[in-house]
Order: sequence, then C-alpha cells, then structure tokens
Amino acid sequence: MASGGREGSVMKKTVAVIMALALIVGAAACSERAEAPSGTTAPKGGPSPAVPEGRNKTIKVGFSQTGAESVWRVANTESVKNALSEKNGYELIYDDAQQKPENQIRAIRNFIQQKVDYIVLAPLVETGWDSVLDEARRAAIPVIVVDRMVRVADNDLYTAYVGSNFLKEGQTAVAWLEAALEKHGRDKRTVHIVNIQGTIGSSAQIGRTAALEAGIRSHPNWELTAQESGDFIKPKAYEVMSRILKKTRDVDVVYCENDSEAFGAIKALEEAGLKCGILNGGVIVISFDATSEGLSECLSGKISLNVECNPLQGPHVARIIRDLSEGKSVEKISYLEETWFDCFTITYETIEKRAY
Ligand code: AHR
Repeated sequence: MASGGREGSVMKKTVAVIMALALIVGAAACSERAEAPSGTTAPKGGPSPAVPEGRNKTIKVGFSQTGAESVWRVANTESVKNALSEKNGYELIYDDAQQKPENQIRAIRNFIQQKVDYIVLAPLVETGWDSVLDEARRAAIPVIVVDRMVRVADNDLYTAYVGSNFLKEGQTAVAWLEAALEKHGRDKRTVHIVNIQGTIGSSAQIGRTAALEAGIRSHPNWELTAQESGDFIKPKAYEVMSRILKKTRDVDVVYCENDSEAFGAIKALEEAGLKCGILNGGVIVISFDATSEGLSECLSGKISLNVECNPLQGPHVARIIRDLSEGKSVEKISYLEETWFDCFTITYETIEKRAY
C-alpha cells in the first residue's frame, strides 16, 4: 500500500507536469495563430481571423454590394453568393446598398459589430472609404475589394482586390474604333462621339471614360459631341440620349459604358429615326459587359463592339479567403481575363455558351 501511495503521488506529479506542458504548448500554438505569418497580406495592427482547421469552422463573411443596377451586377452577386454558400462552409451576410455609399459604410460597421471573419466590398465609388476601412483594420478583419477599386491613403487598409482593368477595357474599345473607322472609310471626316458614362466616380466609369478621352486627344478628327452619365441603367441612358438627339442628330459613335446603357441609347436612337450599326453605315454603338443580351444586340448588328467585363468573381474571392485562412500570401491586385466581341465575328454559339 505504502509503495502504492508513492506510485500514486509520482503519478499525480507526472499528470500535473503533462498538463502544465500541454497548457504551455497550447498557449504557444494559440499565439502563433494570432499573428499573421510573415509574407501574408493579413491586416496590420491586429491578429488575423480565426483559422478554420480542416474546414470545420464556418467562415463568417459580410458582403456589401452596390445594388442591382444591371444584369452584370446580378450575375456578380450570384457568383459571390454561390461561392460563399453554406454548403461551401460559409455564413454569408449580404447587404444591398441600393446605390448609396452611405449604406455601404453602415453595412461595413454592422459587419464589424457582428464580428465577421472577412468583409467583401464592391464599392460604388472609389473614394470615401478611409475611416470605415480603418475601423475594419482595427477590428482585425481583412477586407477583400471586388469589381471596382477603392482609392485610399494607405493601401494596407484592404487586403486584396479582384476585378477588372477598366482602363484596359476602354483602350481595347478605342483601338477597335480606330481600326473599324479606317476599314469602313469613315476615318477622314469628323467623327462625332457621344459618351454615356457610368456612375460618376466609380472605377468602371473612370477607366472607360479616361481611355475614350485619351483616344479623342490623339485623333484630331474625333470630336466629343456630348458626355453625360447614364448611371449604368437603361432608363437614364434613354433619357440622356433622347435629350442629346434633340440638340443634334450628327452622331457617328455612341460609347456606352455598359450594356444597360447601350439598350437605352439604341431605343432613343431608333425612336429618333437613326439606324444603329457599322454594318449598315449607321451609328456605331460601343458597349461594355458582353452579357448574353448585349451579345444578342451584337449579333443583330445594333451594337458594333461589346468589350467583356467579367462578373464571375466569387470563386476568386473564395480562393483568397481560403489562402488567407491557411496563412498563405495572396496577390494584392488580381485582374480577371477579359476579351471582346464585335458584330463581324460574333456567333450564336458564343452567346449560347455565355454564363451570364
Ligand atoms: O463595375 C462594373 C460595372 O458595373 C459593369 O460594367 C456594369 O454593368 C455594372 O453595373
């Protein structure tokens, strides 16, 4: 018994030592998890979010979307919702800002209060995000910016961006226009261009407008007849185009900054008795997005060029979140691959295969 008692006390001491060691190892592991591994783009000034082990933990994400102004936007929302679905291990809190940046700011504050693991922001406009993104950073919540970009004093306020190179999209349109005008013998006389812009201050508008303005500066016979925002929506573009046509019918090109605007502009042009399409010597309508509906108007010849803008960003966001959760580095800026379609080459089969 005496010997049994000594063994018992040795056993107790051993268990105590093991437990103490376990506590030390556990604490060390926790503090390793709390610090962003070097080389990652996890936010400065706080611990990285909890790391899901073996994908058992549900990842809580807040997604602030601009609204539902276009078919493109709806496809973008669906893509993010599908990628960050419950069955993929996410709890997604979705907020539609109804085209108001102040609603997006409110939504982000709400996500912070709800202690989400990540914030996904599709910003309406580029500016005005510094304070709220700093609040997210202080709460150690990584922010992934999608679609349009933010312009902030400190780029560490967001962790990663995935979206489109809007300036490049516009440059593609300008290069196509230059070649098409030449091919159709319309490059020697004055080319009257109407620009129906997107939402003023959004990256999509800034990049596409900048490319057109640069194109006009470098072609002495290209003239900017009118330039007004159609806010990326059909009724507004229709209204803008109708008003312009009351002042002048001298229009060679209408450069619409998305498909919805192109539909509104075409309606106004046709109501005014003007033909649309380079193939029949009519007004050259240029558009962006390349939705199925936009490409159908390309096939009909009414839209002469449609430059793709890829809304399928959800899987890229999910990949970024997975990499960050696993402590891996992510690219700060990722541009999606995009192409273009014109009325000369578009086929029905291409439209049929379109995902949006
Ligand atoms: O930011 C992308 C633009 O926003 C798309 O071209 C447009 O359709 C959308 O509303």
